[in-house]
Amino acid sequence: MSKNIDWANLGFAYIQTDNRYVSNYKDGAWDEGTITTDAMVTISECAGVLQYAQTCFEGLKAYTTEDGKIVCFRPDLNAKRLADSCRRLEMPVFPEDRFVEAVVKTVQANADYVPPYGSGATLYIRPYMFGSNPVIGVKPADEYQFRIFVTPVGPYFKGGAKPMTIRVSDYDRAAPRGTGNIKAGANYAMSLQMIVDAHKEGFEENMYLDPATRTKVEETGGANFIFITKDGKFVTPKSDSILPSITRRSLMVVAEKYLGMTVEHREVRFEELKDFAECGLCGTAAVISPVGKVVNHGEEICFPSGMDEMGPVTKKLYDTLTGIQMGRIEAPEGWIKTIQ
Ligand code: PLP
Ligand code: COI
Repeated sequence: MSKNIDWANLGFAYIQTDNRYVSNYKDGAWDEGTITTDAMVTISECAGVLQYAQTCFEGLKAYTTEDGKIVCFRPDLNAKRLADSCRRLEMPVFPEDRFVEAVVKTVQANADYVPPYGSGATLYIRPYMFGSNPVIGVKPADEYQFRIFVTPVGPYFKGGAKPMTIRVSDYDRAAPRGTGNIKAGANYAMSLQMIVDAHKEGFEENMYLDPATRTKVEETGGANFIFITKDGKFVTPKSDSILPSITRRSLMVVAEKYLGMTVEHREVRFEELKDFAECGLCGTAAVISPVGKVVNHGEEICFPSGMDEMGPVTKKLYDTLTGIQMGRIEAPEGWIKTIQ
């Protein structure tokens, strides 16, 4: 039985559900893993995660499709990206096939929390790993826990599909060199001050520029950028220091193969912004959220798509992507994992 939740009015917040997955790594091996009702994590005061932030995570979603199935979107890519994050942080990799199995089990165990088709909500899935044994010298932990919890969510940005205003950040995303392309807890902790400041000043997000030259567009605190040119091309920044968004990689395929657009994955100069017709943020949480205005120290760059609604091309991309995710449009081979 579906839980009695006001799905249509959910924001992006944590709601504790009944079940979660946990597997422990000890003596060089992962245990078999299990579903547990215990939402609490008990670790040493000196755990590697608490002292040296040895932790990383992933984010994906489960959906109820038009014909009533529960599915998730490209979990194999989250498995691979978590493995990349683990390698960069000297953590043991959780086997990629077991990751997908664990996602399936966790969603099955929380099936009553998967929002119904058409409700506007989805089930956010958060796999994560952390060093759990005491570490006092600066070195990797020997023991780890891999967990997955789920939480039903609505839109990530308050305005939903309303175009938002973002600002250019004076600071870098502050991910230590080479860690911007992994999902490490410490990377996000270093961006908290910038998001708090942005919100205080009335902006929804920060646009981060490349730290070396501050002339190229990178990403925001929680999503990649997409741009539409006035002649209808899809442009998205290429950089080794941004998170390789699964949504962005999928949209490149949607734009080219479903909508017949020219796709340019390349460096995007900040100077070019004024020439684009539409701008959006893309990610699991963000889906595609339109940007109407970018403010750079008082200088406003307003996209012709305006502040009232999502631009027409962004809307087509949004409808096609969500159509694929919710089973209204046939997906490319391997994109949809049926859970039940
Ligand atoms: N960039 C950052 C910094 C993020 O946190 C996210 C969210 O996961 C993304 C981009 C979008 O990635 P994905 O589409 O894989 O969710
Ligand atoms: C996601 O989209 O999964 C993310 O991790 C973004 C985060 C800001 C919620």
